[in-house]
Parts: sequence; C-alpha cells; structure tokens
Amino acid sequence: MHLVEIEGLVKRFGDIVAVDEASITIEPGEAFALLGPNGAGKTTMIRILVTLLPPTSGIVRVAGLDVTRYPDRVRRMLGYVPQTLSADPALTGYENLLIVSKLLRMPRNERELVIAEVLRLVDLEDAADRLVRTYSGGMVRRLEVAQAILHRPLLLVLDEPTVGLDPTARRSVWEALFALRRRDGTTLLFTTHYMEEAESYADRVAIMNRGRVVACGTPAELERAVPGATTLDDVFTALTGDVLESGGSFSDTRRLRRRLQRFN
Ligand SMILES: Nc1ncnc2c1ncn2[C@@H]1O[C@H](COP(=O)(O)OP(=O)(O)O)[C@@H](O)[C@H]1O
Ligand SMILES: [Mg+2]
Repeated sequence: MHLVEIEGLVKRFGDIVAVDEASITIEPGEAFALLGPNGAGKTTMIRILVTLLPPTSGIVRVAGLDVTRYPDRVRRMLGYVPQTLSADPALTGYENLLIVSKLLRMPRNERELVIAEVLRLVDLEDAADRLVRTYSGGMVRRLEVAQAILHRPLLLVLDEPTVGLDPTARRSVWEALFALRRRDGTTLLFTTHYMEEAESYADRVAIMNRGRVVACGTPAELERAVPGATTLDDVFTALTGDVLESGGSFSDTRRLRRRLQRFN
C-alpha cells in the first residue's frame, strides 16, 4: 500500500486555484521532495495532507485513511514541521519538548526518556537547557524536528526545513533527519528551494508549477527525460521557467511536459 495517495487534488481560494488536479503517491520509507517556484501550491498541498486545510475536491489518504474522514488518526501517524517557525524562543529546548509531550498526553514516566532520546538524535543534548532565543537557525530547526517526532510518526512532513540556513546548518538538519531514518525508517516528505538537497537526499521528486504536478520521478529519470539536462536544476528551469526564457519553442515545451507526465 502507498503511504500517501493524493489523487486529483484541487484547492481553490476564491478565484485562485492553488492546487489544480494534483496526483502523487509516496511509498513507505521514501524520502520525497516537493519542488516548485513560490506560489506553486506546495504549502497548500502539505497543509491539506496534514489535516490543517480542507480540500476543495480530490482524495488524500495516509496509510489508506482519508484525511478528511479520519483527521485524528491521520494526525497521530504524522509529524509536521511548518514553514514558519514553531518553537517558543522564550523557553529552553527541553521546555519546548516538555510542552509537546504533555500535549501528546505522553505518560509522565515516559516523557524524560523520550525527550532525552530525541535531544540526542537531533544533537541538542548540550543545548537543552539554553533559551531557544540563543540558538542558531540550524539548532532551532533541529528542535522543531525533535518536537515533530516525539510520538514517532510514520511520516514526517517538512515545509522548507532548511530555508535561510547556511550550508553547515543545513547539513546539521539533514544529519538529524538521517539519524531519524536510521532509527525509525521514517518516511520523509519535504519541500526545498535548494535543488542540490533534492538531488542528494530525495529518492523521488515531484515538480509543481501553478498548482499542477508537472513531473514526478527519480532525479535521474527526470534528468534523462529533459534534453540537455544534466542536473535537477536544469529540469526545474525547463519545467517552471518561462517558455521564452528557457529558449525552447512552445511545442518543444509541450512535448517535454507530456513526456515527463509519464513518470507520474
Ligand atoms: N489562505 C489563502 N488564501 C488565499 N490564497 C492563498 C492562501 N494560501 C495560499 N494561497 C495562494 O495559493 C497559491 C499557492 O500558495 P502556496 O501553497 O503557499 O505555494 P508555495 O508553498 O508553493 O509557495 C498562491 O497563489 C497563494 O497566494
Ligand atoms: Mg510554501
């Protein structure tokens, strides 16, 4: 069974079609990257998946459960690190995790052990008792990952987890995510603007443009399918850039887009 099934998903905000007949599937254990320019519909699709936003139409299932019919059960299966920061800067890292563990109604006698384990996993043991406002960007993001995985979700969804971080901090976030995958085999769905992150860390990627999924496959499949492309960056530009800017004619572009749809 697919872990995530999104089929013909549509989301309208008034006249704006934020997600337009999008379909993707994600397999258990995969790292899956959702790529696309600003406004492509990535965050909207993610917020529907994590039950924060109702779809206009279409089907979204996690482990076979429809997200609109079984939101509580779906929420227990997933962790979510939103695009906007979610840790409280006026508390310590430990205190932030303690609050989440209480919200999860984790038994008192389990809390300390579970919190200690995730702090070790995201490499924040030494900083646990410092106020989050003194943390670097990478440390804050790792704390937010820790908050999102306290209940050991099957699926961790991260919206731009590394945006605005320097390369060292970005690597530290990825190290935490890979430590998590080694421990639990957690499936990852993430968005990023850094193509090299998708290239290095994603098993498969979907590229969105104007609400549509315009390509889906492994980075290597997509690179082979786009003439002249040697990197995912080339694929991204060919599919989301302006037709004239990318130098191709309209019919070239249309042919290319048809070919890429086949991987969906
Ligand atoms: N709550 C909302 N109300 C109205 N329009 C929205 C809302 N959320 C997103 N949009 C619009 O939907 C489109 C997709 O946005 P979003 O999903 O945030 O894209 P991305 O995450 O790929 O940058 C954009 O045109 C955005 O302005
Ligand atoms: Mg977004």
